[in-house]
Amino acid sequence: MRKKIVAGNWKMNNDLQASISLVNEIKSGLSSMELSSTEVMIAPTFVNLHAVTKLVEGTAITVAAQNMHFAEKGAYTGEISAKMLQSVGVNTVILGHSERRAYFHEDATMLAKKVEQALEHQMKVIFCLGEQLEDRKADQHFNVVEYQLKDALFQLNDADWQDIVLAYEPVWAIGTGETARPEQAQEMHAFIRNLIAEQYDEKLAEEVHILYGGSVKPTNAVEIFSQKDVDGGLIGGASLNATDFLAIVNAV
Ligand code: PGA
Repeated sequence: MRKKIVAGNWKMNNDLQASISLVNEIKSGLSSMELSSTEVMIAPTFVNLHAVTKLVEGTAITVAAQNMHFAEKGAYTGEISAKMLQSVGVNTVILGHSERRAYFHEDATMLAKKVEQALEHQMKVIFCLGEQLEDRKADQHFNVVEYQLKDALFQLNDADWQDIVLAYEPVWAIGTGETARPEQAQEMHAFIRNLIAEQYDEKLAEEVHILYGGSVKPTNAVEIFSQKDVDGGLIGGASLNATDFLAIVNAV
């Protein structure tokens, strides 16, 4: 039985003070919730990771980074390594977010290297995939997602998959207020799970967590999360407000 995961991707929002306030609100809200089969993650910006990991010590909240470099260390001005993340208590990283792909030209080759580097350090990866609106209009959405999955992840061995969580995020639904219909999400999640079953096996495919992301709100979360192959959500905008984020956690 897969557990549910709700992860808040704060993107380039919240300075130190705002991060501290938001974490404290989330912490106090979660303290009265029954979370036995739900994992709650938050992904603040790099500079606030250390403060946030300290604040969540002893709670059920996991802290994730929003990105990471593929090299161990070296002359990569402005970049952050796996070891640096781990030195501040962060063992989970979001990779392949569509904003990284679109604005920072992260392609499958680079993402495969990042995934490899994270796994070498026993980090957990939340790997994002998803088609653009043009792809869906041209009926290419399954092909696009298939290549994103194969090109960056199908070199992994069976054991590696224990540390991979997928997040299907149709780009047309991110930050737009437009959500995939629950059946569209389910259809793609089932498609992804089936590709994994074909490449590996049914058992492994059944164990992989596949989150949905793209304008998840308290008002649509229950419907989306109730789909059979949707194992929770990667939440952007709504994760910046404690009340909304807690309501989404409550919806899984
Ligand atoms: P959104 O972002 O919830 O604001 O659409 C989701 C994401 O980018 O992970």
